[in-house]
Amino acid sequence: MATILYQDQFLPRDRGRVDMEDRGYQFGDGIYEAIRVYGGRLFLLDLHMKRLERSAGELRLQLPYSIGHLTDNLQTLIEKNKIDDGLIYFQITRGAAPRKHLFPEGAESVLTGSAINLPRRSAPGEAGIKVSLIDDIRWLRCDIKTLNLLGNVLAKQEAHEQGSEEAILHRGNTVTEGSSCNVFIVKEGRLVTHPADHFILNGITRLFVLGLAKKLSIPVEERLFSTEELFSADEVFITSTGAEVTPVVRIDNQLIAGGRPGAVARRLIDAFNEEVARIRTAALS
Ligand SMILES: Cc1ncc(COP(=O)(O)O)c(C=O)c1O
Repeated sequence: MATILYQDQFLPRDRGRVDMEDRGYQFGDGIYEAIRVYGGRLFLLDLHMKRLERSAGELRLQLPYSIGHLTDNLQTLIEKNKIDDGLIYFQITRGAAPRKHLFPEGAESVLTGSAINLPRRSAPGEAGIKVSLIDDIRWLRCDIKTLNLLGNVLAKQEAHEQGSEEAILHRGNTVTEGSSCNVFIVKEGRLVTHPADHFILNGITRLFVLGLAKKLSIPVEERLFSTEELFSADEVFITSTGAEVTPVVRIDNQLIAGGRPGAVARRLIDAFNEEVARIRTAALS
């Protein structure tokens, strides 16, 4: 049976329980991170932990453990679950207290975490995916990685019911991001993606891909782009911890780049794969 993390303890999955008055359960009052694991190692760990600290700061939520201690526990969780390529999910809530909106006094933050095996490219992956364009109805602090994901959940469900893998969200004429990913377009060899402001989550994979683009001398523009630019792009792709770089080949009923992944996405995927191969080799030595 899988091992989970509850506060500082490792427990069998069926012993994981949270209080019914946990504020994560009642208000979505908490934060989370999902970190990729390659070759048993936490990928881009420091960036995830920085984002976690930022999310906690924005919500004035106390982290229950130091980042060092938390990292040790996550690494142990990987080992206990024998994860090679996988995903670690953990969340921290403001704790359990009688249901009142105000921050409770004296409640202790509650941390829970789990690990799953996630082989690379289990999704449609490199062949490209179909997405749906959906209205972005979320709140105005999408930069915080909170447990409040109802706007994202509804968008993803609507996309799924339209036969799509993912929802690309727009506010008015502006494309923001996906329901659980960031969105890039390519026009005349230049990458364009929404700037990291309050309207999107600054994805760790987004940051990593921006770094890869720099190394590959691919010009980047972090600026607003419109739904018209999305549909007329030479290429579209999404990025996330789980999906890595995944080309989009169809949006609603329109083919993108003739329905095949484009050359810029290919270069980024190759560079991504090289980085993962390097990490795996380092993990073995
Ligand atoms: C709304 C949203 N945007 C972007 C991302 C991509 O972030 P990351 O690359 O850190 O996984 C996610 C990931 O879950 C997300 O939920």
